[in-house]
Amino acid sequence: MSKPVLQVIIASTRPGRVGLPVARWFEGIASRQGDFDVELIDLAEVALPLLDEPGHPLAGQYMHPHSMAWSETIDRGDAFVLVHPEYNHSYNAALKNALDYLHAEWNHKPVGFVSYGGVSAGTRAMTALKPVVAALRMTPAAEAVNIPFVAQFLDDEGRFVPNDVLEFGAAGMLAELAKLEGAMRPLRALVPA
Ligand SMILES: Cc1cc2nc3c(=O)[nH]c(=O)nc-3n(C[C@H](O)[C@H](O)[C@H](O)COP(=O)(O)O)c2cc1C
Repeated sequence: MSKPVLQVIIASTRPGRVGLPVARWFEGIASRQGDFDVELIDLAEVALPLLDEPGHPLAGQYMHPHSMAWSETIDRGDAFVLVHPEYNHSYNAALKNALDYLHAEWNHKPVGFVSYGGVSAGTRAMTALKPVVAALRMTPAAEAVNIPFVAQFLDDEGRFVPNDVLEFGAAGMLAELAKLEGAMRPLRALVPA
């Protein structure tokens, strides 16, 4: 039997972003945990322009090939983890744009947060994201991974080297996402997208 698909979304699109090694670490831990088939999705590669669809995403009538491709990608996800930085006490614009593009594709799916930044560990950004994901009918896991002073966890090659607290937090969030995914699956089957 196939496993549900967990999409780990790299929100930062900057050259040299920390988001890439953080997301690679999380992808590894999620794959080893084994509840999900894990896909890494990089918003820098997806490269969506600023929202340029004339219709509201609720209608799901997309004009542009990039919107249709993004719709197909997110449609196959059963759960999401947003790996996101904190920019100016909120989350980054590329992530908001990517969320705004779609609607039904996000609906009734659980979402977890791997936030990072300085002293706040990206928690202000995570808090700002919660009403946005709620509007898209996603359910956030209460468990989260919040990484303070993220640069301290990078080695000389730029790889992310977590401590036990972060590993433990990731495992807890993944377990909760698996429970939520199972509980929300019948809802997705019942409610027309
Ligand atoms: C535009 C910008 C705004 C930032 N604002 C904050 C902030 O409000 N709080 C914080 O903790 N870190 C802030 N930072 C530092 C980022 O957390 C840090 O640069 C991190 O590496 C950014 O993630 P990225 O490398 O994946 O893009 C900011 C960085 C940038 C580029």
